[in-house]
Amino acid sequence: MPFTIAIDGPAAAGKGTISKAVAAHFGFAHLDTGLLYRAVGRRVLDGAPPVDAARSLRPEDLEADSLRTPEVARAASRVAALAGVRAALLGFQRTFARREGGAVLDGRDIGTVICPEAEAKLFVTARPEVRADRRYLELKGKGLEVTREQVIADMRERDARDAGRSQSPLRPAPDAMVLDTSGLDLGQAVVEAIRLIGPVRG
Ligand code: DC
Repeated sequence: MPFTIAIDGPAAAGKGTISKAVAAHFGFAHLDTGLLYRAVGRRVLDGAPPVDAARSLRPEDLEADSLRTPEVARAASRVAALAGVRAALLGFQRTFARREGGAVLDGRDIGTVICPEAEAKLFVTARPEVRADRRYLELKGKGLEVTREQVIADMRERDARDAGRSQSPLRPAPDAMVLDTSGLDLGQAVVEAIRLIGPVRG
């Protein structure tokens, strides 16, 4: 039976780790929808027109290691503001959400636009300075040359664009459960997410 868990929130709030763990816990498939926008952003950086890039996305485009860089994140945030790009990616996400056996999707507009009928909705957030520190450590850990100031500035810019755009802006669905991970490590955040979703799943 289809059962959709929609997980939204800003960058580095813990959505990715939580979504993977929640999917494993319930035995559901998982889609990181940010990867769709990153893959489109990557192809646009390589010269493709945004809507064409979104329409012709292939599964192998989502696997590129190069999608996790600040440059691609910025390009993703820019293409994500385009209505044509969002429209091109809508059908794939909706079909994934209603697959047999259950699905977890994480992104910015899953509970509000992609799956307003999702059985469980979680909005994962954390204070901006906590998120910036997490992202800084993650990028340093990958050996990327970044400063904390750059990461904070990048995150502010991306948050403002993702929340301020007219097309599917980042915001919690009215019926979403809110999980603030500022004072939690990722293990605690996962436990808390499963505790919130468990009763809905039944
Ligand atoms: O979650 P992420 O950092 O990988 O997302 C990259 C960008 O894609 C982000 O800045 C906003 C955009 N995005 C979106 O607009 N809608 C989604 N459902 C997922 C991501």
